[in-house]
Amino acid sequence: MNTAAPMPSMPPGLPTLLKNARRIAVLTGAGMSAESGIPTFRGTRNGLWARFDPTELATPGAFLRDPPLVWAWYAWRTQVVTRAQPNAGHRALAQLVRRPGVERVSVVTQNVDDLHERAGSEDVVHLHGSLFTPRCFDCGLPHRMEDAESAPWSAEPVERLEPPRCVRCGGRIRPGVVWFGEALPQGPWRRAMAAVTEADLLLVVGTSGVVQPAAGLADLARDRGRPVVVINPDAMAGMAPGDVHWRATAAQALPLLLRTCSAAEQEDQRRP
Ligand code: APR
Repeated sequence: MNTAAPMPSMPPGLPTLLKNARRIAVLTGAGMSAESGIPTFRGTRNGLWARFDPTELATPGAFLRDPPLVWAWYAWRTQVVTRAQPNAGHRALAQLVRRPGVERVSVVTQNVDDLHERAGSEDVVHLHGSLFTPRCFDCGLPHRMEDAESAPWSAEPVERLEPPRCVRCGGRIRPGVVWFGEALPQGPWRRAMAAVTEADLLLVVGTSGVVQPAAGLADLARDRGRPVVVINPDAMAGMAPGDVHWRATAAQALPLLLRTCSAAEQEDQRRP
């Protein structure tokens, strides 16, 4: 994504929408972390699903068929994330809650990285799990990764890497992510629905909108008459005519949105 490209201008009503919002929900996807060097899944030749077969890597059946293949791939993704840094978009979202009059900013992410938290966001819900919460495939016991279990860095995934074993039942350890065909964990899903239901504005940043039920959260906001703002250089599936679409990247748009609102507030304060 060429962030040097001239940035599409901010949709005119957006600063007012943000200025009037007290409780903000932000649904994020892989595009949110793209400018941190983490590949997205779809939409480009470098997308993960253009290079790797999800049926071989991202289903419970795939893990049962070939645990070392799947474990190696997630070990590589964990390394890529560990070496990445939050981008200006992550940092702007973390600062959003500090704006005067904002009561709450809830980040609901489909991402399995920890960049929102590393940027300082405290209210983060992971709908699709996390790369940092492995657990036993058989008994579910959370597994604490030992350094020795981490593979040496490689730019490409090593072919196979035997997953560690569970200290309680000896079962194989699996990545703490939600695979295709698996239900979302109920706790995070309920928190996500509550955050969107209670919000007076929904920002949707860097998701293709093709994966349910996460994508359906935008409908929840629309059904409640809440404004939906999409920040994505490309169109998102399921957009409604009333949505505000800013064809910009996360690291371009979010800092500017924050600055614009802060400038407007200072202007208000100066006005007699
Ligand atoms: N800023 C904002 N948006 C971006 C950027 C960027 N820098 N770069 C890419 N995008 C947009 C793309 O245009 C695309 O619409 O981000 C979106 C990424 O879409 P996907 O790769 O499909 O990722 P996502 O929507 O998060 O996928 C949903 O699918 O594979 C599963 O579990 C996985 O959580 C994931 C889910």
